[in-house]
Amino acid sequence: MTIREPVGCTVNVPEGVMAGATGRYTKTFGELEALYADRQAFAAMAPSMRDSVVYEVTEFRPSSATGDLIFGVTRMAPGKVGGEFFMTRGHLHAKADRPEIYYGQSGRGVMLMESPDGETRTVVIEPQTVCYVPPFWIHRSVNVGDDDLVMMFCYPADAGQDYEIIARSGGMRLRIVDDGSRGWTTIGNTNYRPRTQQECERLLEPTR
Ligand code: NI
Repeated sequence: MTIREPVGCTVNVPEGVMAGATGRYTKTFGELEALYADRQAFAAMAPSMRDSVVYEVTEFRPSSATGDLIFGVTRMAPGKVGGEFFMTRGHLHAKADRPEIYYGQSGRGVMLMESPDGETRTVVIEPQTVCYVPPFWIHRSVNVGDDDLVMMFCYPADAGQDYEIIARSGGMRLRIVDDGSRGWTTIGNTNYRPRTQQECERLLEPTR
């Protein structure tokens, strides 16, 4: 067994990045079309926004071994498509019984969570808020503020991500939209198709 060297990584909150990261990835506006309800609003924004980075992740990934941890920082720009706030693609962990922690650094966000059988929860994430995403919850972060949303995250290194689970159901059951008075509210997603009992049972099987 190799004993790994400890590290310290500095979070640059204004820039929303973490120094000492082993990896970085971005998602542009153009890559996120399928997420939003208002296709017309998306098309109107696309010419000027297509290559704009909606969110970026800098992460420290020491290994993918069971028992290890991956951590990093995510920064999401503010914005809306129609009335719907910018959001991450969202996922369930490929090993669905793996949890995650998010820690708010700046901005104002909402963690939207959905269980396999369609229960939904929201947790507001502001600076110094720790959000615990328990095992088996699909999770997506949403920037409901006027500024960048910056959060630190940490999850088990063997968790993996199933990014298709949301698309397979026509999106998450709820959408986070502008409430018309500088806040946010949830509305139902008319494209949502509930998972079958069989799908739910398969997702809830414990993994090793
Ligand atoms: Ni996750």
